[in-house]
Order: sequence, then C-alpha cells, then structure tokens
Amino acid sequence: MYEACFNNSFTNELVFYILLLVLFLISPLLFVWELIITVRSSFRPNENMSGKVVLITGASSGLGELMAYEYAKRGAYLAIVAIKEPESRLEQVAHKARELGSPDVLFLFADVSKMEECRMFVDDTVKHFGHLDHLVCNAGIGPIYSIDIDVSKFEPVMDINFWGSVYPTHFAIPHLTKTNGKIIVNASSSGVLNVPKGGVYNASKAALISFYESLRHEVSPKVTISIVTLGFIKTNIITAKYSTNTVGVHLRNDIGAVYPTMAPDACAKAIVDGVCKGATSITQPRFIKALFFVKFLFPEVHRFYANIYFSSMFDKLQKGG
Ligand SMILES: *[C@@H]1O[C@H](CO)[C@@H](O)[C@H](O)[C@H]1NC(C)=O
Ligand SMILES: *[C@@H]1O[C@H](CO)[C@@H](O)[C@H](O)[C@H]1NC(C)=O
Ligand SMILES: *[C@@H]1O[C@H](CO)[C@@H](O)[C@H](O)[C@H]1NC(C)=O
Repeated sequence: MYEACFNNSFTNELVFYILLLVLFLISPLLFVWELIITVRSSFRPNENMSGKVVLITGASSGLGELMAYEYAKRGAYLAIVAIKEPESRLEQVAHKARELGSPDVLFLFADVSKMEECRMFVDDTVKHFGHLDHLVCNAGIGPIYSIDIDVSKFEPVMDINFWGSVYPTHFAIPHLTKTNGKIIVNASSSGVLNVPKGGVYNASKAALISFYESLRHEVSPKVTISIVTLGFIKTNIITAKYSTNTVGVHLRNDIGAVYPTMAPDACAKAIVDGVCKGATSITQPRFIKALFFVKFLFPEVHRFYANIYFSSMFDKLQKGG
C-alpha cells in the first residue's frame, strides 16, 4: 500500500506536503516544548571549573585565546596548543591566563593535522595534570576558495578543520570518560548554511557536525558534546587584511562591514557559559539558529534569499564599497 503511494509521483509529493502542513500546525506545541527545555536548562547549575583541566587547540589567537581567558577566570588549569610559528603568541597567552586566575598553564606547540602530535599533546596534558575535563577542538582555518583554483589547496583545510578535531578527540575520549568530561567542537553556521566559495571550509565544518552528532550517541551520557555553530564573529579570519595574505579570493572589505557580527569576547563568554551549563549545541549570535530552520523546512526560500544576500555581499566587496 505504501509502495503504491510512493511510486506515484503525485501522491509521493502529496504525502510530503501533508507532513509539512502537519508539522506546521503542531509547531506551536513543539515551540513551547523547546522553550520549556531551554528555560529549564538555564536553571541547571553551572559546572564549577575550579581545579578542572581544559585542553584548547588553536589557542594562540582569536576565539581560542579568548576562551582560554574565560576558563582561566573560572579557575581552570589550562593546556593550550597552537602551531609553532615565529610570531606565535602562545607564551603570552599562557602568561595572561595565569594572571587571570588559572593556577597552572601548560603551553604546547603542535600541528593538529598530524595524528602523532595530537596523541602527544593529549598525553602530555594528562601526564602533567593527572586528568582531563574539557577538550576544546578549536583550531581551524577558513580560506575562501572557488572551485577552479589549484585543488590541492583544499587538503589542508580538511586536515586542520576536520582531522585536527577528530584526532585529539580520539586520544582524549578514554580520559574524558573517566571524568564525565566534555568535548567542545568548533563547527560554524556555515556547516549548515552554505556560502558561495566557502565550499571546502563549509564542508569541513559540516563534516564535523555529522561526525560529532554521531559520536554523541556513542559516548553520552558519560561525555557531553557541545557543538558550537557561530555566525560571523569579528576575528582576523574575516578581515580583509587577513584574506589578502592567505586566501584564494580577495576581500576588499572586512566582512564585518557588511554582515552583522558579534564581538569575539562576548562570544567566547557565551560559549564557555553554555558549555558549563551542559549545552549540547551553542549558536551565536542566536538569530542564526532561526535561519537553520528556514533552510531545512523551506530550502527554496533559503536559496532565494541566500542568493540575493551573498551575491550583494561579494559585489559590494569587489567594488570595495
Ligand atoms: C568550586 O570548587 C572549589 C574546589 O574544587 C571550591 O573551593 C569552591 O568553593 C567551589 N565553588 C563553588 C561556587 O561551588
Ligand atoms: C573556529 O574556527 C575558525 C576558523 O575555522 C576560527 O576563526 C574561530 O576562532 C574558531 N573558534 C570558534 C570558537 O569559532
Ligand atoms: C563558508 O565559508 C566561507 C568561506 O571560507 C566563510 O567566509 C563563511 O563564513 C562560511 N559560511 C558561513 C555562513 O559562515
């Protein structure tokens, strides 16, 4: 009976729209349900971070650095990791984190895209502090490449953004299981909403979301996974100066000038607050989450406005206005 229904293209389509309509009709109820859960979770006690051990990758700048300070203010021990670069500020970050209240900060240079190096910094952290409570897979790069550039440039994006999170997660899970720890994943709203020329970057983030949503079933309730999906935050990754040096497409203007952005320190605080409350998904700025629903429920509508929105963004950028 079902088969007959799905084989006929008209009834097949009809069932879809009826389901959509039903969803629409009961959505006020679902909305209230969602709201109740959100309100209830905001009353959950905050995790006391004093004496806990937090490992953060990509902590020498940007949101990784700011998250290190947020954890430091809460009294956590820190292991901060970044790639070795001549101008690396990792040591200064460690120094400032100590000043802000972290009792001990270990800083380690490593390349997250190398499996062995990930094994080493996880082991070193546990050897030094005795345990591990939070793993923040933050390191990431975000170049804008269109499909016609040298395709070998795509590889490092995947290596750093995707494997650079998966490897440390693999080595950290045995330790996190012992402490009922948490994993914080740096996805991006682009993992869900796709931006032109964002192909590889956006895909690496989408891969992260898929991987960790699936891992969640394996490790919960022992280990909590918080997937962070951010919109544009004012860090160097989206400024014109940065893009000129490193990316395949030239941005004349900071994206922040044409797109609503959030201040990075407010964002870092919102993330760590959410993590300490045990949130499983964190989206900042909050309004981005509404766009996710539009994309999944009304893909054509999403494509329509995304087209207008992003093409105007790129035009504007190219004209330098
Ligand atoms: C957090 O834990 C530390 C020791 O682990 C304790 O001294 C402190 O009072 C706790 N703070 C709160 C707010 O419970
Ligand atoms: C996540 O990765 C992006 C680059 O992909 C980086 O700009 C940002 O600072 C990272 N951290 C967070 C919490 O988004
Ligand atoms: C998708 O990737 C582009 C290019 O790297 C990036 O600028 C953008 O932030 C991503 N999309 C969204 C919605 O964040």
